[in-house]
Amino acid sequence: MRINKYLAACGFASRRASEQLVTDGRVKVNGKTITSLATSVEEDDMVTVDGKRAQPIHKHIYLMLNKPKGYITTTSDEKGRKTVMELLGNKFEGKRIFPVGRLDYDTEGLLLLTTDGDLCNRISHPRNEITKTYVVKIENEVREEELEKLRQGVVLDGVKTKRCRITVLSFDGKITRLEVVIGEGRNRQVRRMFESINREVIFLKRVGVGELKLGGLGRGTWRELKPREIEYLQKM
Ligand code: URA
Repeated sequence: MRINKYLAACGFASRRASEQLVTDGRVKVNGKTITSLATSVEEDDMVTVDGKRAQPIHKHIYLMLNKPKGYITTTSDEKGRKTVMELLGNKFEGKRIFPVGRLDYDTEGLLLLTTDGDLCNRISHPRNEITKTYVVKIENEVREEELEKLRQGVVLDGVKTKRCRITVLSFDGKITRLEVVIGEGRNRQVRRMFESINREVIFLKRVGVGELKLGGLGRGTWRELKPREIEYLQKM
């Protein structure tokens, strides 16, 4: 793309005013000052104006899906299993949307999907420790001392899990329903934490990611994130 058009796409200035920025010698491409309006740039070139990075404004897509069990969290599956992408219908055909993180095949609940790779990396980065809230069902009554072990951390693959919050929501004489809040996202973490105390998770649903809540979103349906939800994720 021509440099003046590129700068305009970055929201810096109109195309005409962008030409002036170039001829004034205020624009650098990959560290080199350019003054020719014939300069073309590619998306991954490093363009700066007065030392400030210029990046094209993309209108990214941010979605929340209530993943049902029986779907895999990937954009395509060579084994032909159903993927979460199939639940989006054809509205976003041709857009490079991908899931943020992963839910197991048998896990349901809140899954974010986006075209915004930067945001995806930030949310998934262990440093940010965004909390994930799960509803978990276990057969029979789970004793407080068992839960206390999980809260303090158990060793999975030689590494102790971080402290987490666990609250008993109900026990109906057969099934214990719990809320588990963890700040990590290790592979099959919740299921394996309970396996480590010889308990099997018979139902697992993610109901929150940080301040985002699944709320009443129907199973298998999706919605676009609200502006304040996107802002919250971008501030991370
Ligand atoms: N923990 C699990 O065990 N599975 C998930 O899908 C998410 C968290």
